[in-house]
Amino acid sequence: MKDLAGKTAVITGGGSGIGRGMALAFADAGMNVAIGDIEPAAGEAVRAEIEALGVEAMSLPLDVVDGAAVRSFADAIFERFGAVHLLCNNAGVVTFDLMNDITDADWRWVIGVNLEGVVNGLQAFLPRMKDQPGEKHIVNTASIAGIGPHKGIAPYVATKYAVVGISETLHAEREDLGIGCSVLCPGNVQTQIVKSGRNRQDSVGGPDHRVNKQVQSQISQGMDPMEVGRVVRQAVIDDDLYIFTHPDTREIAETRFDAILAAFDKCAQRERDR
Ligand SMILES: NC(=O)c1ccc[n+]([C@@H]2O[C@H](COP(=O)([O-])OP(=O)(O)OC[C@H]3O[C@@H](n4cnc5c(N)ncnc54)[C@H](O)[C@@H]3O)[C@@H](O)[C@H]2O)c1
Repeated sequence: MKDLAGKTAVITGGGSGIGRGMALAFADAGMNVAIGDIEPAAGEAVRAEIEALGVEAMSLPLDVVDGAAVRSFADAIFERFGAVHLLCNNAGVVTFDLMNDITDADWRWVIGVNLEGVVNGLQAFLPRMKDQPGEKHIVNTASIAGIGPHKGIAPYVATKYAVVGISETLHAEREDLGIGCSVLCPGNVQTQIVKSGRNRQDSVGGPDHRVNKQVQSQISQGMDPMEVGRVVRQAVIDDDLYIFTHPDTREIAETRFDAILAAFDKCAQRERDR
C-alpha cells in the first residue's frame, strides 16, 4: 500500500505495546486509526495520543474472542470512516508452562485470543475490504514463536504457527482478493505481554497476575514497540509478507528448516534405495 495518508487503519490490542506502536506509526503517516481493546482505558489513552497527531481516531472496548462483538466493531468503523484500508489483527496473550502443566483453560484462552481473534477479525472485515476499491492490506501479528518451537509456551507457539499459515495463504490469494498481507514475527519487544493474564476472561479462569520473571527480564531489554510500529509501516508500504525485527532470530528459522530439509533428504534417499 503506497499511499497511507487519509486512509483508515484498524488495530486490535491497540491500547498497549506493539499495537500502540503501530497505531502511532500509522497516525504519524496521516492515517485515521480505530482501536479495539479489552482494556477500554488503555484504548482511550492511545486514541487521545493519535488525535494529538492531527488525524481522526476512535477506540472501542473489544474482546476479539467474541465474533459478534468483532462484527459490531467492524460495523461501527465502516459507519464512521466508510472504508477500512488496513487491518492489524494484533491482540495476543501468552501463558508459561511445560506441556504437562497446561490446563484446558490455558489452551482455550490462548487459542481464543491469538487464533480465533485473528479469524474473527478476518471474518468481520475481509469481505467488505475485498469489495472496496483501491489498495488494502492486512497485518497479522504472529511472533518468532510462529517460525520455530519455543519451550514452555506451547499454546502460544501453536497459535502463532497458525497465524503464519493463515497469513501465507492470504498472501497467496492476494491477486484473487486484491488485499496484501504481512505477518509480523518479532523477537522480544518491551511491552506488557508477560502480564497478559491481567486480561484473562472469567470464562477461562479470570485474571491471573503471576509474572514469569525470567521472560519479564528478557522482554524488558527488548525492542522499543514504537520502532516495531515504524518497521511494520514500511513493510506495509513495501508489501512485504514476512516482517522480522531481530536479525539474531534467523537461527530459529534456519534450525527448523534445516531439520525439515534433512528429513526430505532422508525421504529421497529412501526412494532411491527402493
Ligand atoms: N512483546 C513481545 O516480545 C512480542 C513478541 C512477539 C509477538 N508479540 C505479539 O504482539 C502482539 C501484541 O502484544 P504486546 O507484546 O504488545 O503485548 P501487550 O500486552 O502490551 O499488548 C496487548 C494488547 O492486547 C490487548 N488484549 C488482550 N486480550 C485481548 C482480547 N481478548 N481482546 C482485545 N484485546 C486484547 C491488551 O489489553 C493489550 O492492550 C501479541 O499478538 C503478541 O503475541 C509480542
